[in-house]
Amino acid sequence: MVIRRKRSWELPQSAVTSEATYLARRSLLKAMGLGGGALMAGASLGHPGIAGADTMEDPSAALYPAQHNDAYTPGDGRTLTDFDKATRYNNFYEFGTDKSIWRDAQKGLKTRPWQVEIAGEVDKPLTLDIDDLLKKMPLEERVYRHRCVEAWSMCVPWTGFQLSHLVELAKPLSSAKFVKMTTFNDPEMGPGLRQFWYPWPYVEGLTMAEATNELTFMVTGLYGKPLPAQNGAPLRLATPWKYGFKSIKSIVKFEFVSKQPMNFWQELQAQEYGFWANVNPDVPHPRWSQAQERDLQTGDSIPTRIYNGYGDTVASLYSGLNLPDTVLFR
Ligand code: MTE
Repeated sequence: MVIRRKRSWELPQSAVTSEATYLARRSLLKAMGLGGGALMAGASLGHPGIAGADTMEDPSAALYPAQHNDAYTPGDGRTLTDFDKATRYNNFYEFGTDKSIWRDAQKGLKTRPWQVEIAGEVDKPLTLDIDDLLKKMPLEERVYRHRCVEAWSMCVPWTGFQLSHLVELAKPLSSAKFVKMTTFNDPEMGPGLRQFWYPWPYVEGLTMAEATNELTFMVTGLYGKPLPAQNGAPLRLATPWKYGFKSIKSIVKFEFVSKQPMNFWQELQAQEYGFWANVNPDVPHPRWSQAQERDLQTGDSIPTRIYNGYGDTVASLYSGLNLPDTVLFR
């Protein structure tokens, strides 16, 4: 007999206060035969205008909303972060360094046509159009917590697919030990890319074991509709047990490599940011504590949990590495 152990981050849907409301609205719309199109218009969900105009033209719109996966529901009675808050308080340095870049991202980022390159140590390198890639991938919706290294956090329903499916498609060779991901690097779209003191393009990396972990999610949508530009359309990463800077946005390239890649923040400030970036309240950032986080929705200061509460699923990835905490958690 298989006994399925409930993991620490799996709590009943009812524990996530406003998610229930979100899902109830969604089923109601579905029952009314309105489906994704009505959600896109946003009015019924109270998402005023934002992302409405640009996502209306998104050719992937019919894929939303995707099936919700109940297995990924955060614990701690966390309240869902409102759509408006999650889409108007962003980090996307390609568009500027303040949190209010959403309008500039929506104006500047052209998400079609969008090519995704799969390169490096793979059987056959290939380049795919984003819409062809989306059709090949099993889209689903998961609610994840997101903890930024700046000590704020949110909790939102992402739509996307496990990175493991893209790894399967890529057929990496045994020499591939890491996946390196790269963001677009066109200053016509993202004027922040002209700030020459940053080590552009934005790059991130994962080990193959991390990339194929069940939690590692390629995000294509948010709140049951295509991802708004400011959140990293058309394709961004979510690794909820790591600090948010690992969640690279607007990816154009997946490269399978044999050496650990340097990421953007590490390149910029290696004493403060590392490759692993696993969340740990006991390892402070050199300039501030990581013990607490500010919930974007409620404004409350809440205790941060090791691996952001996802340790049951990911701690084993690191148990044999014998790395000091300041390396594993920074
Ligand atoms: N990806 C790119 N390309 N550029 C960025 O500036 N910022 C990172 C990450 N991904 C960033 C990026 C940081 S620091 C965080 S916290 C998250 O995106 C923020 O995601 P959100 O704006 O959707 O909350």
